[in-house]
Amino acid sequence: MIHNAETLLLRDGGSCVIRSVEPEDAPRMLQYMKNMLGETPFLLRTPEEFDYTPEEESRILEKRKNDPRSLMLLAERDGQIIACADVQSHGSKSRVWHRAELGISVRKDFWHQGIGSALMERLIAFSAQCGFEQIELTASQKNRRALNLYMKYGFAVYGTRPHGMKYPDGSYGDDYLMVKMLP
Ligand SMILES: CC(C)(COP(=O)(O)OP(=O)(O)OC[C@H]1O[C@@H](n2cnc3c(N)ncnc32)[C@H](O)[C@@H]1OP(=O)(O)O)[C@@H](O)C(=O)NCCC(=O)NCCS
Repeated sequence: MIHNAETLLLRDGGSCVIRSVEPEDAPRMLQYMKNMLGETPFLLRTPEEFDYTPEEESRILEKRKNDPRSLMLLAERDGQIIACADVQSHGSKSRVWHRAELGISVRKDFWHQGIGSALMERLIAFSAQCGFEQIELTASQKNRRALNLYMKYGFAVYGTRPHGMKYPDGSYGDDYLMVKMLP
């Protein structure tokens, strides 16, 4: 689905543009995701595991753009992608048709500027318009920033997954399973 470009004012007095991701963004999206995955231990992949070619990424973005039940947003400033967030259906089968899944990331040097909140608000509004009845996500128990963001927007913990992630030093991280019911 397409979301027209809009300007978002940030807490530092600057601004960024929020818009839906286009297939032409593929090379910059790959760069953004690789940087982002290196910045946080709380996302599912390592930078090396995000190994799409620009052509593969472009095809994925084209598919998402043409999917009326999916929205992938980015925030950009000075030609650089600084955040990305998306929502899509849990699956195409009738019994899970009412469930959406959400993911979000903001570049570290832009944290706590209100970008995460702005992206969440747009994705929640889109999900409701689409007819989804609930939005689901998974967050590491130690990811305090993300948990605060999700709780601020009405997500509640409905379960805990032990050892959701395993790190190279042999340690584990537990996950919270979260859901927001839509009116
Ligand atoms: C989680 C994340 C998306 C938040 O994005 P953000 O742009 O910093 O979010 P916002 O500035 O809109 O802040 C939203 C809320 O997050 C919480 N938050 C932000 N910074 C925080 C901090 N330093 N400490 C604790 N909570 C914080 C607050 O509740 C805040 O609400 P408030 O501004 O009304 O107080 C961002 O930190 C991020 O991308 N982290 C790495 C990737 C990641 O963990 N993604 C989620 C995977 S489940």
